[in-house]
Amino acid sequence: MGLLSRKATCNSHGQDSSYFSGWEEYEKNPYHEIQNPKGIIQMGLAENQLCFDVVEKWLEENPDAASFKRDGKSIFRELALFQDYNGLPAFKKALAEFMSEIRGNKVTFDPNHIVLTAGATSANETLMFCLAEPGDAFLLPTPYYPGFDRDLKWRTGIEIVPIHCSSSNGFKITKAALLEAYQNAQNLNLKVKGVLVTNPSNPLGTTISTQELNLLLQFIASKNLHLISDEIYSGTVFKKPGFVSAMEILDQNYKHDHQIRKQVHIVYSLSKDLGLPGFRVGAVYSNDEVVVAAATKMSSFGLVSSQTQYLLSAMLSDKKFRRKYIRENQKRLEKRQRMLVNGLEKAGIKCHKGNAGLFCWVDMRHLLGSNTFGAEMELWRKIVFEVRLNVSPGQSCHCSEPGWFRVCFANMSEPTLDLAMQRLKAFVVDSTTTTVTSLGIRSWNTNSITVTTTLSNQLDTKRKSVAKWVFRLSVQDRVSEPRDR
Ligand SMILES: Cc1ncc(COP(=O)(O)O)c(C=O)c1O
Repeated sequence: MGLLSRKATCNSHGQDSSYFSGWEEYEKNPYHEIQNPKGIIQMGLAENQLCFDVVEKWLEENPDAASFKRDGKSIFRELALFQDYNGLPAFKKALAEFMSEIRGNKVTFDPNHIVLTAGATSANETLMFCLAEPGDAFLLPTPYYPGFDRDLKWRTGIEIVPIHCSSSNGFKITKAALLEAYQNAQNLNLKVKGVLVTNPSNPLGTTISTQELNLLLQFIASKNLHLISDEIYSGTVFKKPGFVSAMEILDQNYKHDHQIRKQVHIVYSLSKDLGLPGFRVGAVYSNDEVVVAAATKMSSFGLVSSQTQYLLSAMLSDKKFRRKYIRENQKRLEKRQRMLVNGLEKAGIKCHKGNAGLFCWVDMRHLLGSNTFGAEMELWRKIVFEVRLNVSPGQSCHCSEPGWFRVCFANMSEPTLDLAMQRLKAFVVDSTTTTVTSLGIRSWNTNSITVTTTLSNQLDTKRKSVAKWVFRLSVQDRVSEPRDR
């Protein structure tokens, strides 16, 4: 017997995943425009830094809120002593309004059904503690947010069973995939307690369709399960089709079905939509009062500080600010996503068609040496160490197909994103040139932008066209754009 607990010494935290080790590499050599221009650019972090100026402007115009004052008088002592785990009523009301506003006011949220938590991390774990016993399982569509292996499983003892989604239908959730996952769990002797989805999806950057939501609700009704809808990215939807919350479908199709309503729970947070992960503000929303009561008691372990609640209740109850922020945030995210998609396209790389989130789900299957996760890791290492971009490999998101990567776009400036794209393009050109050379093809005619030797039939058709296309684009760009090296 060791001196420490099994929990403290087991490695089920998931810290060894390439998702986290990419961050470690970044920490060792972080890119800085002036101090470290050859450093690693962080594209593995889903942070939203695009609207800080809008928040800062509001803070400037509302100095009382951040300096613990009400009508000019200090409320420091009141806030310093406040420790009610039900949360500040004014904050819960403002948060409920913000959540409704994001959903185009098609649904309303009752502040009494909100439990405040230290971020969505804590909200998801709290729901696991409320809904399942150690050893029970939740079904999750793949690819999924790598942090779930820690948040849902580590301290609770819950198991995740993947619902395998595939690129062949745009990673949509199907009835067959749900049933297969359910059967797999049973084969493993695991009791299934529910399904957890992220809507919009991290890492896909897409919203879940009404059809899929209906399917999920029918599925949980037929098997008597819970549905957790992690809607942490609900305010990042910038393009059609718009966002439909699980709550909206409940209101439309299950208005009077109290049982099903009790089985659906929403997770929310201000980490992404408002860009405040450091503030640690999250929430569980449930129609089941027993879940609300239990989660409220559990929230003692991860409360939101009273000064944060006070500041944000002032900010989010300001209707004008709310509207402006939501609109501006979506506009800027759309522009950024387009920049990334266009940049990747110039490097001959395509993305899964996204309409939300702080990242793109990028298809680099054509750059793999073979169709294996080993080849994906090899490519990932090159991207981290040679191209010096930290991106998240699909394997860390439990994707069933090798060659997909999550690439974030909202945690850096436009020039940094530009530089990242130049580096990637140079890498693709170099690696496709190397591939061709290694296959016995000698020289490139860089003036006429054609390959002088006939391409070997050892190259597959896809790879061939990408190499040509990228090469052509890169030579054009070399004329007009400075390169990184
Ligand atoms: C889908 C999803 N859920 C939960 C979290 C955790 O968020 P928070 O910072 O609010 O704990 C993240 C963070 O990336 C996420 O992507």
